[in-house]
Amino acid sequence: MTRPPIAMLAELTHRCPLACPYCSNPLDLVRGAAEMGTEDWARIFREAAGLGVLQLHLSGGEPAARRDLVDLVAAARAAGLYTNLITSGIGLTAARLKALDAAGLDHVQLSLQGTDAAMADAIGGLEGAFARKLEVARQIGEIGFPLTLNAVLHRRNLHQLPRAIEMALELGARRLEVATVQFHGWALRNRDALMPTREQAREAGRIVAEARARLRGRLVIDYVPADYHGDYPKRCMGGWGSTGLNVAPDGTVLPCHAAQTIPGLEFWSAREVPLARIWAENPAFNAYRGTEWMAEPCRSCERKTKDFGGCRCQAMALAGDAGATDPTCVKSPLHADLAARAGAHAAADAAFVFRPAPGRVAV
Ligand code: SF4
Ligand code: FES
Repeated sequence: MTRPPIAMLAELTHRCPLACPYCSNPLDLVRGAAEMGTEDWARIFREAAGLGVLQLHLSGGEPAARRDLVDLVAAARAAGLYTNLITSGIGLTAARLKALDAAGLDHVQLSLQGTDAAMADAIGGLEGAFARKLEVARQIGEIGFPLTLNAVLHRRNLHQLPRAIEMALELGARRLEVATVQFHGWALRNRDALMPTREQAREAGRIVAEARARLRGRLVIDYVPADYHGDYPKRCMGGWGSTGLNVAPDGTVLPCHAAQTIPGLEFWSAREVPLARIWAENPAFNAYRGTEWMAEPCRSCERKTKDFGGCRCQAMALAGDAGATDPTCVKSPLHADLAARAGAHAAADAAFVFRPAPGRVAV
């Protein structure tokens, strides 16, 4: 029998006031009119809890763009789920945060586009966003929500990593996620503008290791290294169909946020099919579950239950085959070429390509 998932990511909306060039949301965004309503989401939260999900991550786009966000949090809590709001902070006010607290929100994860207004507003494509974010962070601290700061780092802002660590401490965060940019969705269009250099990737690893040792007991630092410069891939989604699932704004249930880039997979909708049935029976979830689907070199590799062959979507994007070994793995026949291409991307001096409206909305 398939083990139940632990976590569900609810992409409440693809609407967002920011336009980060590394956005991992798909090229084809779900339009506002196609988003599910409060009742559908509340039912899916109950189904998730019944299936065994413990943690619910409320994400987007920008989840604060949903006018019913407080009702959604209340519904998730009523279903017995631990709720984490993943937000840029734009669209949150003191009154709204208090209402979210009253509704039972457990945790806030605040994104950081840069550590000063010049960088953060340029990356997010919204003037004044950094100042508003700092105000929201202050209000989060006043209410006392447990806070995680999430810094996406790339060639343009990796030098700000030491300051990001200081900011996490100043803002009272318990955890800092240092995520080197991943090239999914829109981010792939900006690979030449975002790819870190090998030296930057190495320096980031050193800074994180030093900070972890220095801040033990004060700040937990999660680190996603630059995978084009590494030797082994990450264990994406904890393994396909293993520990988590995503629900898109229109109710489509996905094994990961980029799964729709893999041709030939049919994804079912939670509007029509109960979540438990999708998890157990949807062929898309079973396509890369476990290790049976693997080809060589993964099939006979001693790491295959550690990383499950890496990321299926990255294998699709880079090798043209979702069943291939993730080319970020040193054992992939494509790895040497990828490492060389990473150097070329990092040496390119490309400008950002921003996602055009209507992906962006004022909230
Ligand atoms: Fe992981 Fe496959 Fe590489 Fe082995 S060969 S380390 S299982 S990606
Ligand atoms: Fe789809 Fe990694 S993003 S498996």
